[in-house]
Amino acid sequence: MPTVLAIETSCDETAVAIVNNREVLSNIVASQISVHKNYGGVVPEVASRLHLETINEAVALGLEKAQLDWGEIDGVAATCAPGLVGALLVGLTAAKTLAMVNSLPFLGVHHLEGHIYANYLTETTLQPPFLSLLVSGGHTSLIHVKDCGMYESLGSTRDDAAGEAFDKVARLLKLGYPGGPIIDQLAQKGDSSAFKLPEGRVSLPEGGYHPYDTSFSGLKTAVLRLVQQLEQKNLEIPVADVAASFQNTVARALTKRAINCALDFGLDTITVGGGVAANSALREHLVSAAQTHNLRVLFPSLKFCTDNAAMIGCCAADHLSRGHTSSLNLGVESRLSLSRVMELYR
Ligand code: KG4
Ligand code: ZN
Repeated sequence: MPTVLAIETSCDETAVAIVNNREVLSNIVASQISVHKNYGGVVPEVASRLHLETINEAVALGLEKAQLDWGEIDGVAATCAPGLVGALLVGLTAAKTLAMVNSLPFLGVHHLEGHIYANYLTETTLQPPFLSLLVSGGHTSLIHVKDCGMYESLGSTRDDAAGEAFDKVARLLKLGYPGGPIIDQLAQKGDSSAFKLPEGRVSLPEGGYHPYDTSFSGLKTAVLRLVQQLEQKNLEIPVADVAASFQNTVARALTKRAINCALDFGLDTITVGGGVAANSALREHLVSAAQTHNLRVLFPSLKFCTDNAAMIGCCAADHLSRGHTSSLNLGVESRLSLSRVMELYR
């Protein structure tokens, strides 16, 4: 089974990992959050510059922690899409250069395929088919995982991604960035039934609602209105109750759709991936609903929920073991559907 050095720079973490198949040999994550939080969100130009400053050191540390030298590496991989173009370019160029100078195969990896593979790091015997609920800062999807590189999207968000909703609600509650972990922590002290908020259903032209699609922009607006109403009445905002009610609504909406989708498509396992997979309410709701319906639900360990290079390395190792490699002419893409993953390989 191949050993891959992988780089992930799609957003605000400079990450390098060395993975042998599903085993993580080293996992370096240099987060830029402390810089971006001063601006209330990720500033793309700043992200690219910081990746550039950090990447060489992160690669050296990755090799040192794994106690490996280049002779023991079988391939070099980097996230090539989707993400911030300038940020992706830093990781991709570094990986291509390292592959070239060490005469190793190079692989570009789809970031969301990486988030799916995060589950293999924790559940090493997992095999497709299964349903993957991907919930990150930029994406919210239900994906039928058929095999390595073979994905069908069964549901997605019509507007805000789940993580984006957490970040926006945290901003309007003046809690800081990134919003997900802050709301999650604050919600522990709040009453999740304090406020009834709309779950955000997606209407179908023929009537009724889409069973698997989500819409979080209405929920975000409802929180904004609630805050404005309380402010107009000069009432103190019960931030923990608002956070808990919001988080509970998101968790309920995602759980309902994932369970219905798994049952409808006869898939007995649901995996969760992306930063919001760390959310405690989502974990509780899904575990309990899965038990009721006799389904298996799997979450990556917390460090593999948010962006990391171990998941990218695990994904690349699987592709490499099937003989898939990428051209050194491969470019970066800010958006790329998961159904097009195999276009990255030859
Ligand atoms: O997967 P990720 O690290 O980056 C993207 O690919 O987008 O996800 C980041 C997102 C952010 O929106 C962050 O607020 C959210 O994941 N997040 C959480 C939690 N931890 C991170 N959302 C809810 N609860 C959490 N505990
Ligand atoms: Zn991500």
